[in-house]
Amino acid sequence: MRSTYITTPIYYVNAKPHIGHAYTTIVCDVFSRFCRMLGSDVFFTTGTDEHGKKIEQSANNAGIAPQLFTDSISKLFRDLLPFLNVTNDDFIRTTERRHKDAVAHFWNRLKESGYLYLGEYSGWYDMRNEAYFSEDELVDGKSPLGGEALYMTEKCYFFRLSDFQDRLLDFYEKNPSFIFPSQRRNEVISFMSRGLNDLAVSRTTFTWGIPVPDDPGHVIYVWLDALTNYLTLNGYPNNDQSSSERWRNVIHFVGKEIVRFHAVYWPAFLMAAKLPLPKQIVSHGWWLSEGEKMSKSLGNVQDPIKYCKLFGSDALRYYLLRELSFGEDGNFSLSGFINRYNSILANAYGNLCNRVFSFVVKSCDNKVERPRDLTGDDQLFVTAVDADLKGSSSLFQRYAFSKYLEKLEHAISLANQYVDFQKPWALKTSDQGRMRDVLFLAVEQIYKITRLFYPVIPICAEKVFTQLGIPMDKAIATDYALPDEFHIDVVESLFPRIDQSTTNFDVFADD
Ligand code: MSP
Repeated sequence: MRSTYITTPIYYVNAKPHIGHAYTTIVCDVFSRFCRMLGSDVFFTTGTDEHGKKIEQSANNAGIAPQLFTDSISKLFRDLLPFLNVTNDDFIRTTERRHKDAVAHFWNRLKESGYLYLGEYSGWYDMRNEAYFSEDELVDGKSPLGGEALYMTEKCYFFRLSDFQDRLLDFYEKNPSFIFPSQRRNEVISFMSRGLNDLAVSRTTFTWGIPVPDDPGHVIYVWLDALTNYLTLNGYPNNDQSSSERWRNVIHFVGKEIVRFHAVYWPAFLMAAKLPLPKQIVSHGWWLSEGEKMSKSLGNVQDPIKYCKLFGSDALRYYLLRELSFGEDGNFSLSGFINRYNSILANAYGNLCNRVFSFVVKSCDNKVERPRDLTGDDQLFVTAVDADLKGSSSLFQRYAFSKYLEKLEHAISLANQYVDFQKPWALKTSDQGRMRDVLFLAVEQIYKITRLFYPVIPICAEKVFTQLGIPMDKAIATDYALPDEFHIDVVESLFPRIDQSTTNFDVFADD
């Protein structure tokens, strides 16, 4: 079985999670579920990034010791996972012993290989994003990542990043899909063409970090610390990464603002430590609120837990994947959420399942059988649905989640049209045999659509499979043959319509 290792970035613990964080995690969960369906042995990880000046300062502002502060916020990120129905295999905190050991080991490998040296650094420091910039990189006096920039000088260790320019460019050329999508790849290459400076990888201006081995006055640069989490989670340094199939198949999902760290620094660190490089860096866009990136510092965040509590995690997962064309930015809005929920989940899909299943229960003694022959209309219907579903898997593999869902929605509308046109309620008096055939075909297409819907709306999918008497693990297994007879005992409502006049939206008032 093929191994696939899927990672979310690890989240800063300076503030509680919002929709932007939930998005990266949900994308990874949906992708993990999809890979598992295709038979991959998936290892899916997430966690929290807990060191650095920014976190130390947030703890100071809150008047709490950094460890206690990070304990409490990391817990919020961990507790969010069951709300989002996320199936991660591990959760890492960079303050854990296993990680500190891995980072110290990694540092020593870089040092032994001659890529670290002691020097002095002056530059503009963006504390929000924990990165230095040169004067000409500033935009209107701020860092290019949008944070306030402070001029600072400090003695620190440098990593010989400049040595890797050609090797990295060569690697991108030989591995054109390493950075996805290509727009981000082009940005990275254009950044590299300006020349790579050596990178400051230790700090002395604060203490909240992993000490440099044998020089504890320095703490290790938080990005070097954080990126190493991906190795820690794969058992580094105890497991041999060079022979790890999982490591060779690691896909890092990241927001577009952190591509540079993952696509330039990280492969350079790994090359220096003589370790294999990840398979792919997949970058997504931002959720905006009134045109600005949703972020705690801008005070325009939305709380994912509120959406899960009020409308269910399936609804949030569906909205996030459908609304944003993967890789691009998009606006998050409650009205947009309700529109998509009502039109697709409640009216088109939920209602289709409900009316077809109820009809089977009420008019067919709870069961329908596979028809012996198909009419021309039936054949057209099944072929059209299959055409929608056939290409969907390759869309998924190219991270085109919104287009994938669009295909499923089209298949749902074909099924609704088929039922409307065939009118099983009229056939009930004129031709019961035909009525049963129509219902079987409708149920069968619902089942096929629901299998592909499963990675996005797993709770609902399980309800549908349960109504059909098919255990979830069988229903989503690649080689499962559909039974020739469906038995439906009880019909369960899937997505009740959101009625704006009766829903209490007060919970959103303080976001
Ligand atoms: N700690 C670093 C990552 C280290 S990984 C070795 C970090 N943390 S973060 O908390 O700021 O961001 C984590 C993820 O959340 C990123 O992928 C980021 O893009 C995502 N999001 C945070 N706000 C977001 C939006 N408003 N919209 C979409 N995703 C955004 O960076």
